Amino acid sequence: MLGRVNHIAIAVPDLGTATTTYRDTLGARVSQAQALPEHGVTVVFVELPNTKVELLEPLGADSPIAAFLEKNPSGGMHHICYEVDDIIAARDTLKAAGARVLGDGNPKTGAHGKPVLFLHPKDFNGTLVELEQL
Ligand code: CO
Repeated sequence: MLGRVNHIAIAVPDLGTATTTYRDTLGARVSQAQALPEHGVTVVFVELPNTKVELLEPLGADSPIAAFLEKNPSGGMHHICYEVDDIIAARDTLKAAGARVLGDGNPKTGAHGKPVLFLHPKDFNGTLVELEQL
């Protein structure tokens, strides 16, 4: 079912500082900051040779990463995103196996304009998993 790692997302308390660290200290290529109000985050993409890191900063009053940052004030790894060929087939297989799909269970359009789903971290060793269909 799983393909490549599409990205690893890191929640950060200050996107400017985090971007500077990745660009200037780690020497990575970083995107402009992009506000995604429908996801409650502002994101910067760090382009690596084999994958991307997404730096996420809360946007708006009820950002889905606000509670995570309260528990992890200096930031932390928030989720990992795997590519799948068929997101509906993957969802149905996982649901049949007892995994919990977050939200209403239907794919939403993710940061890259592709359908995504999130799976409950308690079903995946404490890691929030995102699936993305390319
Ligand atoms: Co993601």
